[in-house]
Amino acid sequence: MPAKINLALGVGPRRDDGYHPLATVYQAVDLCDEVRATEVDDDSVTVRVQFGGDGWREQAPVPTDANNLAVKAALALRDAFDVKAGAALSIRKVIPVMGGMAGGSADAAASLVACDALWGTGATRTQLEEIAAGLGSDVPFLLHGGTALGGGRGEEVSPVLARGRFHWVFAIADHGLSTAEVYAGYDLLHADVPPPVPEVPAALLTALASGDAYGVGAALSNDLQAVALDLRPELRHIFTVGERGAALGTLVSGSGPTVMLLAEDADHSAQLAQMLISEGVCADAVQASGPEPGAHLV
Ligand code: C5P
Repeated sequence: MPAKINLALGVGPRRDDGYHPLATVYQAVDLCDEVRATEVDDDSVTVRVQFGGDGWREQAPVPTDANNLAVKAALALRDAFDVKAGAALSIRKVIPVMGGMAGGSADAAASLVACDALWGTGATRTQLEEIAAGLGSDVPFLLHGGTALGGGRGEEVSPVLARGRFHWVFAIADHGLSTAEVYAGYDLLHADVPPPVPEVPAALLTALASGDAYGVGAALSNDLQAVALDLRPELRHIFTVGERGAALGTLVSGSGPTVMLLAEDADHSAQLAQMLISEGVCADAVQASGPEPGAHLV
């Protein structure tokens, strides 16, 4: 199940419910977790988590109890359809944990699709999307996939015209950032003057519609970037490498700390990944491309 990135992330003033209105452009990329749901004899829903990447990622905490978002997804689906059975979930994690790439949300979307098939609930797409929205702001997009606009708190997803394939490098940090903490930092930054109602940059939509990677690179934007860079000043070194390696654009992914670099093609992204690793500016550099389909059965 793919990870998500935000090609633009416009964040408005904090709402009464604590969330922030977003104007975002999502893209799903082929850095994928795998979620399996298998039958069990009783009504228990359990999860085990395996790490598909290098050892360092095992240090990141992933809950294996009812706090795991994939378990919450299975339980929400079960409640909605009055299912009596249980499920054993197993997740192979590749998406960095707390990296600003919605790995937990990707697992939740995958768990919905897998448990729906296991239990034969016959849920419609709309019903799955409603359950997804209750689980987290990014979960509906991870069902949807591709390239899409996100409104509301991120859960209102609509398709956007996008041509071509985009080659990314992800500079992965060895410690994650809390999304809630980054949003709280954003509120502090705007304590005196509230941010304007966010809008998606027109230049980004034009560049996506014509498949213009240079235009997309120039139009990347993220209102949370300044906060993530304040919390992790060392991420600035990645931007320097991006400039030197002629990345088409460099941006903090979501709430960070993963930084994404847009490359011209697969060869250029291999070069950028090599530079990032040899300069020692991140714990790992991973190549991926998008857009990818959303959560689906394999
Ligand atoms: O929706 P999700 O559970 O993924 O959000 C995690 C946290 O991120 C929320 O508790 C909130 O602090 C913050 N958030 C926000 N505005 C959004 C999305 C997330 O403030 N639009």
